[in-house]
Amino acid sequence: MDDRERYKQLVGAYAADMVPSNSVIGLGTGSTATYFVTALAERLRDGRLTNVIGVPTSERTAAQARREGVPLTDLHTHPQLAVAFDGADEIDPHLGLIKGLGGALLREKIVASAAQQFFVFGDSTKSVGTLGVVTPVPVEIVDFARSLCMRRLSALGARPILRLRDGQPQITDEGHVILDCFFDGIADPQALDTAIHAIPGVVETGLFLGMATAAIIGGPDGVHMVYPQ
Ligand code: A5P
Repeated sequence: MDDRERYKQLVGAYAADMVPSNSVIGLGTGSTATYFVTALAERLRDGRLTNVIGVPTSERTAAQARREGVPLTDLHTHPQLAVAFDGADEIDPHLGLIKGLGGALLREKIVASAAQQFFVFGDSTKSVGTLGVVTPVPVEIVDFARSLCMRRLSALGARPILRLRDGQPQITDEGHVILDCFFDGIADPQALDTAIHAIPGVVETGLFLGMATAAIIGGPDGVHMVYPQ
């Protein structure tokens, strides 16, 4: 296991230690969230945690949780969550996030918004000064509007690229497609998010702004909590 994987595993375990017994929690998606779900399952098996039920943010996470024995529920049964944990692709000093390179941004945003507290976790390479210099903003859209959305997103300064998997458009868990929108840095993430949401056909963006309570960051110096500046 390389250092980055080790840091992700460390933050997964750290986050699992933050989970309270007798709670309903959001389970994120991605490689860091995979370590978290495994650590959660271990604590449920060995009795460090009891009565924790998860709302998964993707079919992938749901399958892992079932395999490892983490009980699941949904937002119909439990519309309010105590806490949610999820990874991110970029984290800025205000804890503005880019998420969705794993394709689960829509359910991830819904679950995070249903939680009283939302903790984002990742290795230290996820911390950036400015969002969108390196990572594209994933935008989930209805395929019917794809050409229109691409033109409107380009007018906002993006270079949108349809996300493919095995040569075909990647279809999300909610049946949509994703446009990865490249920018040379995002000066005003809130204004951009508002402008993207105004485009007919856009379902959700991978900009998670003002949502994270704190970030759990793992690096060479161990795990530390980062709060919004
Ligand atoms: C999934 O859609 C994403 O939002 C992930 O949470 C994000 O891509 C981080 O994934 P990793 O933990 O694999 O880096």
